[in-house]
Amino acid sequence: MSNLSMEQWGEPIGPEVMVHSTSQQAVEQLAGEIAAGIRKRTRQGGRYVLGLATGSTPIPLYEELVRLHREEGLSFEKVTTFNLDEYYGLSPESEQSYHHFMQKHLFSKVDIAPERIHIPDGMVPRNEVERYCAEYEEAITQAGGIDLQILGIGRTGHIGFNEPPSDDSTRTRLVTLDPVTRQDAASDFGGLDFVPKEAITMGIATILEARTAVLLAWGERKQEIVSRSLASSPSSSIPASFLNLHQDAAYLLDEAAAPEFQPA
Ligand code: F6R
Repeated sequence: MSNLSMEQWGEPIGPEVMVHSTSQQAVEQLAGEIAAGIRKRTRQGGRYVLGLATGSTPIPLYEELVRLHREEGLSFEKVTTFNLDEYYGLSPESEQSYHHFMQKHLFSKVDIAPERIHIPDGMVPRNEVERYCAEYEEAITQAGGIDLQILGIGRTGHIGFNEPPSDDSTRTRLVTLDPVTRQDAASDFGGLDFVPKEAITMGIATILEARTAVLLAWGERKQEIVSRSLASSPSSSIPASFLNLHQDAAYLLDEAAAPEFQPA
């Protein structure tokens, strides 16, 4: 594993950049850290609050967490979760919904209490969305804030569904999806016409309040946006670049997604 800091790009501070040979090695490291955090908090009698992402990137991480549950006794009983986002207009039963995704890849396979799972509701009536989003933020605060937020990155530079331009004042809200993001989701929906046009997402401000944030990216397809985000000063044109402001953020990458750099 190589471990880089933004100083190597000439910037003062920035996220840690951890590059593993494979995504499997990367997720094993992160799952180990999450497991240690859960166990420590559980021993202290508290609850660990995990911020979750969906999409193809975190699937191997969820597989590893399930393995730790099954083979190494990791319990999720004292874990509270908040998902980043959900498509607007999709019911939890819809196969493309992030509710369905989370049940399939993680929740149905571990001992988490259903009442401690939070995923934005894509079916909230439009005139109640604002109140609903404020309540989602309040629920995060009431839970004590997010200990560790898992993130993927979209080719537009989005984290959650904070498409450009989204700045660091944004909170949980209804957003319009970028055409590139909808195109990337088209195969999951059986065609572009079926991809929802909107979503409810945590905001950049919400994400930056997590005590730790870890952005995962695998494969050549993500290399360009990862490089641009790391090299950019925080800018609403690359929403992920706001992570560069965070005191405890990391990019966890495989070699194919890593920016080209000169090892120190
Ligand atoms: C999903 C989310 C998005 C994805 C991003 C990458 O909850 O918040 O930001 O992480 O679109 O998606 P994949 O992993 O499918 O490339």
